[in-house]
Amino acid sequence: MVGPATSTRDREPPGHSPAVTVAAPAKVNLQLSVGPLHSDGFHPLATVFQAVALYDEVTVSPARPGAGVSLTVTGQSCQDVPVGPENLAWRAAVLLADTAGVSADVHIAVRKGIPVAGGMAGGSADAAASLLACARLWGLPSTRSDLTPLAAQLGSDVPFILMGGTAVGTGRGDRLTAALVSGAYHWVFALAHVGLSTPSVYGQFDALATAAAGPPRVSGDLMSALRRGDATAVGRNLSNDLQSAAISLRPGLRSLLELGEDAGALGSLVSGSGPTVAMLVADKDAAMSLTVLLSSSGLCSAVRYAMGPVAGAHVVRRERG
Ligand code: C5P
Repeated sequence: MVGPATSTRDREPPGHSPAVTVAAPAKVNLQLSVGPLHSDGFHPLATVFQAVALYDEVTVSPARPGAGVSLTVTGQSCQDVPVGPENLAWRAAVLLADTAGVSADVHIAVRKGIPVAGGMAGGSADAAASLLACARLWGLPSTRSDLTPLAAQLGSDVPFILMGGTAVGTGRGDRLTAALVSGAYHWVFALAHVGLSTPSVYGQFDALATAAAGPPRVSGDLMSALRRGDATAVGRNLSNDLQSAAISLRPGLRSLLELGEDAGALGSLVSGSGPTVAMLVADKDAAMSLTVLLSSSGLCSAVRYAMGPVAGAHVVRRERG
C-alpha cells in the first residue's frame, strides 16, 4: 500500500530523473452481468474481463518544483479527451502524490491507441498507466497490490487494467480473481464514429428495467469453455446485460452485430458500455476477412484486430528526461 514518503526530488534532480513510459491494454468483457442500481450509485456486477493488445502509452516526465501537472494527448480521437484536472491520468498522478506526500510536478503525455469512449476502458488504461509511471518516477512502492486500492478509487475498471490477463470481477468490477484460461483469442473490434458515456448507458439500463431478479453471476459454461481453450464455445457464451441499453441509444449497433453473425464470427457483443462491437473469430485469417467486410460496410468508423489475453499495465521505457 502506498503511504506518505519523503519527496524523491532531492534524489533525482528535476530534468535528470528518467521519464517513465507505461503501456496499458484495453479490455473486453466476455460477460457482463448487471444487477439493479445500488444506493451508492453503482450497479453490482459479475463480469469476465479479458485484456487485449490495443494499448495506450503514458509517459511521465519530471517538471520543475512547483510546476504542478501538465498533460498532452495525441492519437486517434484525442480531441475528445479532456486535458485538464478531470483527465483520469492527471487525477491518478494527484491521488498518488497526495497519498504519498510528494509534489505532483510532472508532465504527462498520453498516446491513445484505445478507442475513446468506446467501452474498452481507454480512460481507465490511462489512469492505471499514470499510477504505475508516477510510482516508478517517484521511487514509491509500485506492485499491483500497492496500487490497487488507489486504482479502485479512480474507476471500476482500473484495477483490472493493472492486472491484465483474464479475470472475474465482482462488486463494481473492481474485486478480481484471475481466471484459468487456455489458448489465445482473436478479436475484431468495430469502432463507432461517436462514443457513448458509461453513466448514460447504465442510466438507460435502469430506464429499461432489464436487471435480472437474482444477483449477477458469471456463466459456468463460459468459464469452462475458457479453461478448455474452446473459442467456439466461448463465442456462444458471450453476453452483455448492457447491450440492449447501448442498442436503444444507438440502434445502428444491431446491424453491426448481425453482420458479425452473418460473417461467421464465433460470437459478437457490445463491448462493456459500448459502442464498440467486439467479434470473436477463429484465427488471424478469419480476422482479416472480417476486417475487410466491416471496413467496406459503412457501419463503423474503423476496425481493429487484437489478440487476448495480454499482460496488464507495464513499464516499456525509462529514459533521461
Ligand atoms: O467506475 P467508473 O468511473 O468507471 O464508473 C462510471 C459510471 O458508470 C459511474 O458513475 C456509474 O454511473 C456507472 N457504473 C455503475 N455501476 C458500475 C460501474 C459503473 O453504475 N458497477
